[in-house]
Amino acid sequence: MTYIYNAWYPAGWVHELEKGPIARKFLDIPVMIYRLSTGVLAALHDRCPHRFAPFSYGTIVEDKVRCIYHGLEFDSAGRCVGNALCFAAPKVAKVRSFPVFEQDNVVWIWMGEEEPADTSTIPRYAYHNDPKYRCVYGNNYTKADYRLLCDNLMDLTHIVLLHPVFDALHRKQSFKSWEEGDDVLASYSAVEPHEEYHTINTIRWAAPGNHDLEMHIIPDFGKGPVIQEWSANLLTPETKYTSHYLWSVAVSVDSPETDEQIYDRMIQVVDREDSWMIEGVQDRMGEADLFDLDPVLIATDAAGVRMRRKLAAMVEKDAARRAARAASREAAPVSA
Ligand code: FES
Ligand SMILES: [Fe+2]
Repeated sequence: MTYIYNAWYPAGWVHELEKGPIARKFLDIPVMIYRLSTGVLAALHDRCPHRFAPFSYGTIVEDKVRCIYHGLEFDSAGRCVGNALCFAAPKVAKVRSFPVFEQDNVVWIWMGEEEPADTSTIPRYAYHNDPKYRCVYGNNYTKADYRLLCDNLMDLTHIVLLHPVFDALHRKQSFKSWEEGDDVLASYSAVEPHEEYHTINTIRWAAPGNHDLEMHIIPDFGKGPVIQEWSANLLTPETKYTSHYLWSVAVSVDSPETDEQIYDRMIQVVDREDSWMIEGVQDRMGEADLFDLDPVLIATDAAGVRMRRKLAAMVEKDAARRAARAASREAAPVSA
């Protein structure tokens, strides 16, 4: 299995909830996330325990999720608390609920069955709330293993050929990668042929699929004031071979680029180029795992390989934790 279950995952942008619940599958599990009248977020398994209808097809009535098929109603803890028809609410009917947390305009969901990790472990994207920045947000969906998208983000040399909009073909490039605790970082610097400006892009991967890209553009032959921009690239597996991809770009409020220009550029770069390429890669790989295909590795794979190694160790640790929990559950005495 390729998932870490006991982890916080980015589930969507907070502003998406203004239109209603978010109904999305994470790690093969359909989930519905919604806001209660108190302002608190709730998340339930999006599957009624009666005949397995999606709750997200139904409605929310006085903070209760009402299944539109036969009318059972559930509270945010997943307890059956009513029946819209004239029949009784079966007390045994129970739905799994998930811890959710909102921070930096991101809705985070905990997909594990263990107690959730402290929310202070969730990576920060504080520029989403910083009045110095103007943020543009988007959602992408890619039919590929989320780890291939992580590989793509950790090797930013791909922008040279895959993203002509950045006009990077003639820049002199250099890169390095390193680790900080559980995170992997890579820094890519590029200098224009006449050295009129330098760019340094540093990307930080935090498990399972969170990427924070810090962009420095230094005009005037590398001596001008630094223009700093940011981009969050947050990946969550929907299934083994499909992924949700939240992206944002934060530019200075007085950037000459309009929100529409940024959005259009990102649709080109993420939807039409990155996603297109990664779906092609997945198609050629089929269901094989990357390293089982014995890929040729080149120097610029360094950060991706570091990331893959860390992720594999975390997946293994998580699987051991879940197996230990399952074993202790089986060993527990059954009460009469
Ligand atoms: S499937 Fe939900 S009440 Fe029947
Ligand atoms: Fe890209």
